[in-house]
Amino acid sequence: MKDVLAELEQRRETARLGGGQRRIEAQHGKGKLTARERIEVLLDEGSFEEFDMFKQHRCTDFGMEEHHIPGDGVVTGWGTVNGRTVYVFSKDFTVFGGSLSEAHAEKITKLQDMALRNRAPIIGLFDAGGARIQEGVAALGGYGEVFHRNVLASGVIPQISLIMGPCAGGDVYSPAMTDFIFMVRDTSYMFVTGPDVVKTVTNETVTAEELGGASIHTTKSSIADGGFDNDIEALQQMRRLIDFLPMSNLAELPELTNYDDPERIDMSLDTLIPDNPNKPYDMKELVLKTLDEGDFFEIQENFAKNIITGFGRVEGRTVGIIANQPMVLAGVLDSDASRKAARFVRFCDCFGIPVVTFVDVPGFLPGTSQEYGGLIKHGAKLLFAYAEATVPKITVITRKAYGGAYDVMSSKHIRGDINYAWPTAEIAVMGAKGAVEILYRSELGDKEKIAQRTRSYEDRFANPFVAAERGYIDDVIRPHSTRRRIAKALAMLRSKKVETPWKKHDNIPL
Ligand code: HXC
Repeated sequence: MKDVLAELEQRRETARLGGGQRRIEAQHGKGKLTARERIEVLLDEGSFEEFDMFKQHRCTDFGMEEHHIPGDGVVTGWGTVNGRTVYVFSKDFTVFGGSLSEAHAEKITKLQDMALRNRAPIIGLFDAGGARIQEGVAALGGYGEVFHRNVLASGVIPQISLIMGPCAGGDVYSPAMTDFIFMVRDTSYMFVTGPDVVKTVTNETVTAEELGGASIHTTKSSIADGGFDNDIEALQQMRRLIDFLPMSNLAELPELTNYDDPERIDMSLDTLIPDNPNKPYDMKELVLKTLDEGDFFEIQENFAKNIITGFGRVEGRTVGIIANQPMVLAGVLDSDASRKAARFVRFCDCFGIPVVTFVDVPGFLPGTSQEYGGLIKHGAKLLFAYAEATVPKITVITRKAYGGAYDVMSSKHIRGDINYAWPTAEIAVMGAKGAVEILYRSELGDKEKIAQRTRSYEDRFANPFVAAERGYIDDVIRPHSTRRRIAKALAMLRSKKVETPWKKHDNIPL
């Protein structure tokens, strides 16, 4: 027995070393943690239960039969984050660059199957070069199996990807099918093919950072939902994110003990809107003052900043926030903002997270660059996402709600449950200047007349009461009571149930 125990310990020790001390040091030298160290930071202390530590590849090509490393480049298992179960796989770059063999794929698919069967989130920590080149089609087949399970799990359990090293091929396509992708700044990269292949095929010289660093994917491509300064911060933020999410689409929302009075009023909100309607103000102030303890986990903070998306809590329960940001492009809806918000609304709807929308939007952004870029279709994504969502939807119009953007931003007409407006709201087809120029074109030479026309348009439409008279707005609320009114509405909507006609799935304008 003693010998067997010693052998077990020795085998475990070998597996824990992955690609060996030299490679571990190289990993540390790049400012990165190892696959196992990452799991330790991510999960509650001592909670990790590992599977398949001794699994090995079966490849006999290119001399691979001489190179076996137990675990085969990925550490898999489950543990807890603040007591709640999560499944984790962590790619080990020290073992064949974390590349995926057939056996490596089997470890991941086993975990995906368990996560789906037992309805708990799955988190992938990526630091890997895609399909293992020596295995050829067996590795491609392995990826196909992983991809398929990504799709089966989509909308059933939360799937989160954290990119923590250079990632290529399947190690970017699998994350791309999960709910959220986060990156570590300066040490992680995502590309379908790396800079060397780019040089060979297109003769373009580009660095890894320029091709697929966090700076690119969080600001330009919008592939990543956020970036963090180092491994530790990224992993701790993933713990924070998990705390906001339900375990599955059928699970209850997590409910945290709440120390922030839902009745709390905030008098400073009464002066948030500037007297001049063309002056911006920071919508984030309203977001933070509405949520419990100002705790807001922002999604895509550095992309399409004209719209804000993220998670917070009201009375201890998760809500999804979508808010136009007047500080950036006057809060206009363009293609990027529409896509960003649409995806976020759909995530919330998948997982039963109520959506709170703050509206101050002058409309859709006009112009050829937007039209050529498909604004009609991208704007339609947001309209579609809001209209199909059956979770509780609460809307507060703070100032402008013009044109199609009024309809899109969770209006009553697309099943907004509770629609409030501040007294400063202006709900109309367009702003006064544009409207008068169209309606009274023949009078444009007469400045006085136009000024008078503009005033009378403003008197008629630059307020929330026309909409309130029709019941499109349920109440005109005082800004300082926004949190209280939202908390009450959320409590009232807790057991909301909506039946929709049977369909296989919808056909959102992709
Ligand atoms: C086998 C690999 C590998 C791979 C890296 N390694 N990628 N081994 N298969 N795919 C090995 C290297 O040989 C090296 O081994 C070690 O991992 C570290 O790699 P380096 O290149 O030294 O590291 P670095 O310079 O940091 O570059 C990392 C990298 C680069 C950017 C990931 O290695 C790279 O471009 N790899 C190939 C990426 C790729 O094209 N993969 C296939 C994609 S197709 P030694 O022994 O020297 O330490 C795919 C199919 C799915 O994934 C398709 C989805 C639709």
